[in-house]
Amino acid sequence: MTIALEITFARLDAAHAATTAAFIGQDLILSPAVQVLNTRSQGQILKAAEAADFKGKKNAAFEILAPQKLDVQRLVLIGAGKAADHGDSDWASLGGYALGQITARKAAEASLVAEVGGATDKPETIAANLAFGALLRHYAFKKYLTKKNGEDNAANNGAGDQKPTQDRLTRLVVHCADPDKARAAFESKRALAEGVYIARDLVNEPANVLGPVEFADRVKELERVGLEVEILDVDALTELKMNTLLSVAQGSVRPARVAVMQWHGAKSKRAKPLAFIGKGVVFDTGGISIKPAAGMEDMKGDMGGAACVVGLMVALAERKAPVNAVGIIGIVENMPSGSAIRPGDIVVSMSGQTVENLNTDAEGRLVLADVIWYAQERFKPRFVIDLATLTGAIMVALGKDFAGLFANDDKLADQLVAASKLTGEKIWRMPLDKSYDRLLDSKNADMKNIGGRWGGACTAAAFIGRFVKKETPWAHLDIAGTAMDAPKNEINTSWGSGWGVQLLDRFVADNFEKSEK
Ligand code: BES
Ligand code: MN
Ligand code: ZN
Repeated sequence: MTIALEITFARLDAAHAATTAAFIGQDLILSPAVQVLNTRSQGQILKAAEAADFKGKKNAAFEILAPQKLDVQRLVLIGAGKAADHGDSDWASLGGYALGQITARKAAEASLVAEVGGATDKPETIAANLAFGALLRHYAFKKYLTKKNGEDNAANNGAGDQKPTQDRLTRLVVHCADPDKARAAFESKRALAEGVYIARDLVNEPANVLGPVEFADRVKELERVGLEVEILDVDALTELKMNTLLSVAQGSVRPARVAVMQWHGAKSKRAKPLAFIGKGVVFDTGGISIKPAAGMEDMKGDMGGAACVVGLMVALAERKAPVNAVGIIGIVENMPSGSAIRPGDIVVSMSGQTVENLNTDAEGRLVLADVIWYAQERFKPRFVIDLATLTGAIMVALGKDFAGLFANDDKLADQLVAASKLTGEKIWRMPLDKSYDRLLDSKNADMKNIGGRWGGACTAAAFIGRFVKKETPWAHLDIAGTAMDAPKNEINTSWGSGWGVQLLDRFVADNFEKSEK
């Protein structure tokens, strides 16, 4: 889905659209804008808020219908909570909440008064972040809903029990003191939102539509945003000896692909790139070690790592980030068939290390092993960060709000944790240790692809670690819990969350761009 909400910025005193959402701060510290409205309505706003015992707590809303002397049908006051303590992600969350309030009222156009009583952040920062949160909240994956378009769809007119479309909102006017500054501050946020949208779309798309070839085609199209994209087909992958990746794909009638996206934004085109690697299993049946039927449909989202890398690369390109970055994703389908890999098969990876496949459902690490090796050999990157919906075990350990972080480098880990705190995409550091690595030793090959019953997320990380060169700073994010079917929140109501795009965009912006400017 392309962004379907037009966001514009206007002055505070510009005419309001049919629905107005206004923010107030903690303890009814009214923003000047609300004060003006209150005066104009002869005190009705405050009177009504007090009568309803509305105190302006975060994520609480209070609606006044047809306020007197005001040119709006309804005014929704939205609590901002402790405005002085808010950072970017709090504002985004509030913007998402506000958008939810607006769309629930089914307006085609709305105004959002982005002026908050008691806030200390710059007005344009607040306005841009509110708009960003609203944009993320507006995302919905509806392309296959042919019958729920209500009045938007002439064919459904009068179709009785059809629900009308949840939101008709197409235009949001954000009112603030300095629209020009807010518009400028919003530009990079809009680029980021586009990246998140693309990641969500890829995760939500069913596997019949999004096979490896189709996925690669979509990535190729991203040359339009300024990325350099190469698609490696099976012949190229065979030539490169990416045999562990190919061994996962061999049971599927749909051939594997690897997509290499490059963004050259640094002053020197030759400066070593930052490298981001994604697991792109378009569907994971488990292969011959087949998964149980219940819930298997979720495995259409087993390319969440790859989707995040694509979304990040789009965000970097769209906001012209002054860095060199490369995103490489391994795209395969894991199917059982007469040509599928068997338990017990031994495969020689691109690195030369041999792997005994003892469970064909531990396939993501086999894809990453070759792609990570390739990334290091070809690009000599400053670091490698991989993202993968790698293990059920990470959800047992951390639940669905946190992704697992494994890193061989404390500085890299700390930088990621800092970005995580600022964006609200939560991560928790997990151990890399010899004791896990040892569990991968095999009698028959250099290693096996599973480590036994315990610490499944840690043995998976240790496996990947065997394909990371000593000199490469590396972090692995296990996003099995967060990339899909994660708890809904104010800025995401989609099954495919687009998790990680914000985190990594921030991580890049805060650590690798300042010296380049
Ligand atoms: N894609 C799965 C992990 C997964 C499970 C992601 C549920 C999201 C939701 C991965 O390929 C897998 O099957 N992992 C196995 C590893 C095991 C066989 C060692 C797992 O976690 O059970
Ligand atoms: Mn699997
Ligand atoms: Zn998988």
